[in-house]
Amino acid sequence: MDPTQTKSSVDNAAEERERLVSTLPIREGFWKPYVLYRGFWVSPQVAKSVMLLQDEFKPRADDIILAACPKSGTTWLKALAFTLVNRSRHAVAGDADGHPLLVNSPHDLVPFIEKPDRELYPVAELEALASPRLLATHMPFTLLPASISAVGSRVVYISREPKDVLVSLWHYLNSVSKDHFIKLEKAFELFSEGGSYFGPVWDHYLGYWKQSIAEPDRVLFLKYEEMMADPVKHVKTLAEFLGVPFTVDEVDAGAVEQVVDLCSFQKLKNLPVNSSGTSNLAGWMPMEKSSYFRNGTVGDWANHLTQEMAYKLDTIVQEKLKGSGLAF
Ligand code: A3P
Repeated sequence: MDPTQTKSSVDNAAEERERLVSTLPIREGFWKPYVLYRGFWVSPQVAKSVMLLQDEFKPRADDIILAACPKSGTTWLKALAFTLVNRSRHAVAGDADGHPLLVNSPHDLVPFIEKPDRELYPVAELEALASPRLLATHMPFTLLPASISAVGSRVVYISREPKDVLVSLWHYLNSVSKDHFIKLEKAFELFSEGGSYFGPVWDHYLGYWKQSIAEPDRVLFLKYEEMMADPVKHVKTLAEFLGVPFTVDEVDAGAVEQVVDLCSFQKLKNLPVNSSGTSNLAGWMPMEKSSYFRNGTVGDWANHLTQEMAYKLDTIVQEKLKGSGLAF
């Protein structure tokens, strides 16, 4: 809350958000209904959180925003970006002894801007973070507070093959809430109708894709599959974009490979901090920490979706991305 705001102006703003949300189109979501807020389906709580951020979030020019549709590789991107920008303070060489990533979840090191209960967590929580801040979001580009573009904060987006996103999401939802098992057919239906959390996924991709073409120095668009195929190349690209390029000496000493190894799926998955216990990592609800690390592969959809489902989703995605230059 801005210190100049009075209690009643804060209450009025909250009431106005509540009123706005009550006017939005509503549809079945995973577990609970979603509302359509400026073209994207979210829970009513998240819609209010996004509205609050649009009003109150104060970006800084040196902020780095890591963005992704849920289950597209957010956790990996958080680990990589944190390791890259902090490598002069936290050495990666050797066994990276004492490195924060060995004892903290990537989600603890890079907070999400929006939270379903952001109205309870004052935005001042983000204000308290030292610059340069590394922040994450699942918000589509068009829902980001406009001030982020105005001050020129850099944005890194990670996208992923939609069928793998769907399968990852389906597993994740069922690992988070065992009481509300969601059938794959139901998850497929919502996802391919564009009605999944922060869906449609193709519009989520397109917003960042178009902006990365318009502003390549400010918005970097990555693909999970390309990063998996050549992590060294992409980690170098990411380091340059983040303003912390590898020196020749670092490259010669194998620093790029060390970052790749430290942030690899196998390394992170097997750490006690990521493999056991529960935590309210995304500010959503307590969940098994291991649910962020399932199998981390490309093409797992083939083990779950029927050929018919795959064809249907491919056709929808191709149609939606047609003419954009983006394809999966
Ligand atoms: P799978 O469910 O296909 O295994 P998000 O971080 O956006 O929630 O995405 C989660 C997906 O990224 C999961 O995919 C998870 O296993 C995978 N993942 C997590 N950490 C990873 C890493 N370090 N490298 C590659 N993939 C990773």
